[in-house]
Amino acid sequence: QTRRKTVKDIAAAKGKTPIVCLTAYDAPMASLLDPHADLLLVGDSVGMVVHGLPSTVGVTMEMMILHGQAVMRGAEQALVVVDMPFGSYETNNDDAFLNAARIMKETGCQAVKIESGTYAAGQIAHLVERGVPVMGHIGLRPQAVNVDGGFRAKGRTNAERDRVIAEARASADAGAFAIVIEGVAEDLAAEITAEVSCPTIGIGASAACDGQVLVTHDMLGLFDWTPKFVRRYADLSKTISEAAAAYADDVRTRRFPGDAETYALRKPDPEQR
Ligand code: KIV
Ligand code: NA
Repeated sequence: QTRRKTVKDIAAAKGKTPIVCLTAYDAPMASLLDPHADLLLVGDSVGMVVHGLPSTVGVTMEMMILHGQAVMRGAEQALVVVDMPFGSYETNNDDAFLNAARIMKETGCQAVKIESGTYAAGQIAHLVERGVPVMGHIGLRPQAVNVDGGFRAKGRTNAERDRVIAEARASADAGAFAIVIEGVAEDLAAEITAEVSCPTIGIGASAACDGQVLVTHDMLGLFDWTPKFVRRYADLSKTISEAAAAYADDVRTRRFPGDAETYALRKPDPEQR
C-alpha cells in the first residue's frame, strides 16, 4: 500500500517542487485524481458545483462530512483536506475544535481548511495545538461573498493589500501548514510567498505561489462560464451532452438496448439461480 502524504510532506515541498492540488467531492473522481495530486481538497465549493447553491454560505457540516467520507474512500496517497463550512468555526475556539474534530473523526481526513481572516489566528493556533492540522485561506474568501457584494479579486487598494498580508502573517504565525491564496495579483502573491515559511497554494493568484489548486469541475470544463484564472483541460460538458443526446436518440429509435446488452432467453445464466 502506498504511503499517504502528510502535512509535513506538503510543508517540506516549499521552495523545492510545485504542490499539485485539486478539489474532489466523491469517491470515483477522487480515485481518478489521486495518482496525480499531492493534496485533494474537499472544498465547500461542493455546494456550488455539485449542489447548485448560489454561494458556499449554505453548505453544512453534514454535506462536508458525507463528501469527505466519499473522497477518503477513493483517495489513497494524496493528503485529504476538508473545508470547514461557513458558521462552523468563526464563533470561538471551542466550536472550531468540536467541528474540526468531528470532521476528522467521521471522515478520517488528515487536515481541515478554514477561511482565515486575521481574527481566525486564535482558532488556527487552538486547533493545531490540539492535533488538528489547519490550512488557511486568504485573499478572496468566498464565504464572505455577502460582505464583499460578489466574488471580487483582492489587493487592488493599499488597504486591501495590507489586509491580505496581515491575513497571511496571522495564519502562518498561528501554525497553518499551508495557505490558499485566492484572487490576488502576482506581485502580492509573490510578496506573501516570500514572506511566510509555509507553502502558498494559489487559485487565481499567479505562478508566484508554491502550488496551485483548481476546482476540478472548472478544469474539466463542466460549466459554460468559468473565472479568468481557470484553464480548461477537458470539455466534459460537451462530452456529457453528446452522450446524453445519443442515448436519448437510441432509446427513442429502439436502437438501445441491442443484442449485446440483452440477456439471452432461456439459456442457463450464471447470474441467476
Ligand atoms: O472550496 C474550494 O474549492 C476551495 C478552493 C477553491 C481553494 O476553497
Ligand atoms: Na472553500
